[in-house]
Amino acid sequence: MIQEESGEIRVVETEDGSRTLYLPGMDETYHSTHGAMTESRHVYITNGLDFWRAENPDATVVRVFEMGLGTGTNAMLVMDWCEQTGCGVEYYTVEKFPLSQTLMQGYWGDTGYAERSEALHASAWEQWIEIPLLQGEFKVFKHHCDIQTAEIPAALDVVFWDAFGPKKQDGVWGAALFEPIFSALSVGGIFVTYSAAGDVKRSLQSVGFGVKKLDGPPYKRHMLRAQKA
Ligand SMILES: C[S@@+](CC[C@H](N)C(=O)[O-])C[C@H]1O[C@@H](n2cnc3c(N)ncnc32)[C@H](O)[C@@H]1O
Repeated sequence: MIQEESGEIRVVETEDGSRTLYLPGMDETYHSTHGAMTESRHVYITNGLDFWRAENPDATVVRVFEMGLGTGTNAMLVMDWCEQTGCGVEYYTVEKFPLSQTLMQGYWGDTGYAERSEALHASAWEQWIEIPLLQGEFKVFKHHCDIQTAEIPAALDVVFWDAFGPKKQDGVWGAALFEPIFSALSVGGIFVTYSAAGDVKRSLQSVGFGVKKLDGPPYKRHMLRAQKA
């Protein structure tokens, strides 16, 4: 099923000029309305990939796992990062409710990311696809399934947990899902999320992570970064 079939979905402009989606049925947006790209960059690039790379400066490839592909905002920023750093990326992402290509064409159409969005959203599921960049090698594997039953690849370096907020979707923030993620991460691997909820922090700690509360993106006090020691 595609997300739009389950109800009206709206494209909303956020405070930094980038877009997000609003789901009226859930009263939830895909990103912060104070800046979708700003939030993604802060949480997943600066406190995720940049942090990991500073600890692994000689790595030539980073293996990323994303919970919730959605619009592909994080993926677009990771493609930029791949191009800027020259570090290869293997990007494995899980999505239960894929967005239609028509919606994504309108969403990304005039942003400079249209070509990459087309390559990402029109590509086949359940196989590795390379998206050509000016520099760096970016491969993506889109896994169409519920995170509850997802196959999680081994030897992950960085996990982006970008589910809907725990107040809206509490079944995807607990130890039962974090345990296999912890096992799949390499030692030193990290898990980043925009949520700073106490229950999320405790669930991460309960499966073995060391967890740090970091400054959040604009208008959000904190976010979490967890690491496998
Ligand atoms: C907060 S949105 C973030 C999406 C995305 N990272 C982006 O930047 O657009 C959460 C995403 O998780 C997906 N999702 C929700 N429940 C899921 C589940 N049980 N399994 C897999 N994906 C799920 C949603 O469809 C949505 O795309």
